[in-house]
Amino acid sequence: MGKLRIGIIGTGNISNTHMASYKKLGNAEIAAVCDLNGERVAAYCEKYGVPVHYTDHRKLLADKSIDAVSICTWNNSHSMIAVDALESGKHVLCEKPLAMNTSEAMAMQRAAERSGRLLMVGFVRRFGKNTKIVKDLIENGRFGDIYYARAGVIRRCGNPTGWFADKSLSGGGPLIDLGVHMIDLCRFVMGNPRAVSVYGAAFDRLGARNDVKMVERYRPMDSSDTCNVEDFASAMIRFDNGSVLAVEVSFTLHTANERLYCEVFGTEAGAEIEPGFKMAGVMDGYNVDITPVYSEDHNRFQAMFDREIAHFADCIAYGTKCISPVEDGVEMMRILDAIYKSAESGVEVRIDRP
Ligand SMILES: NC(=O)c1ccc[n+]([C@@H]2O[C@H](COP(=O)([O-])OP(=O)(O)OC[C@H]3O[C@@H](n4cnc5c(N)ncnc54)[C@H](O)[C@@H]3O)[C@@H](O)[C@H]2O)c1
Repeated sequence: MGKLRIGIIGTGNISNTHMASYKKLGNAEIAAVCDLNGERVAAYCEKYGVPVHYTDHRKLLADKSIDAVSICTWNNSHSMIAVDALESGKHVLCEKPLAMNTSEAMAMQRAAERSGRLLMVGFVRRFGKNTKIVKDLIENGRFGDIYYARAGVIRRCGNPTGWFADKSLSGGGPLIDLGVHMIDLCRFVMGNPRAVSVYGAAFDRLGARNDVKMVERYRPMDSSDTCNVEDFASAMIRFDNGSVLAVEVSFTLHTANERLYCEVFGTEAGAEIEPGFKMAGVMDGYNVDITPVYSEDHNRFQAMFDREIAHFADCIAYGTKCISPVEDGVEMMRILDAIYKSAESGVEVRIDRP
């Protein structure tokens, strides 16, 4: 089999990480790239030596020699581009969140089923070494039954602004941007339970806080003054196996304790997966803390993408079973829609399935 021919759609920040990962693969080459911004995509081609570029994703998809695409665009176009790509016979790796909402996500899932092509979601934290260790140990029964998890990303002044803060392009604020990572990480290690109900709250009291001095934040390629997304959200998610997950996320919050954390608790043991990595267990009647010993990656962020993209290529080239399939992206959108609905209505929302 020849090299996989890849297209990258959206040549902003995260596309550089995808590109770096593809470049490390022996069995893939970047055939073409696309971005709405003509100057940006031309400069990107120059930088990476890509032969062809477009400003309309349909033109890239018309190239029959391209096997697969990475979608690295704003959230509002994930669904449209993925459906077009699948219908053109391409395999798709779509950045998180899968879509803006459940109905868009389900359209993507249906397109994947119709086309028989792979639609993988970029839940990159599934590819962390700590994630793999905890998941393995949970599957081996070392934690007993996991009945509680808690996770969050709390930023004090970290609204990325630009399209991230414009609901029509992003679908929401920290919940859809950061919450996705943490909810998925918990679901993944817990064995992908399905959510049955959520109780959520969301606030938009502080805004982007562009006036705050001497603070650096992640910035997308294009700036904008729009800010109409929540700046804080919190939720309790109940799963079909009886377990629950408490999650809290902020772009902006008056806190002196910025953090990213994830913990799971079972009947036999518990684990802090982030920010440190340690387990709390019992040995011969004594409480013991257990610290896993393994070689951590030098650049964890890039290394997780390297494994994600190597897995995507393996799924296409060798039929390896995908560990981040579209179903989990759809399930995530069901959870997020329900949290936003609960936040708006002030009552618990049950998740009904077709
Ligand atoms: N997995 C992660 O940890 C992670 C980190 C950052 C961003 N992301 C995701 O990656 C995506 C992109 O985020 P970013 O930070 O790179 O944003 P960005 O603004 O830096 O880049 C997005 C690019 O997409 C282009 N674009 C938008 N709509 C397009 C369309 N219809 N066709 C072609 N190009 C289009 C824009 O012109 C821009 O150049 C988002 O979905 C985001 O949630 C994931």
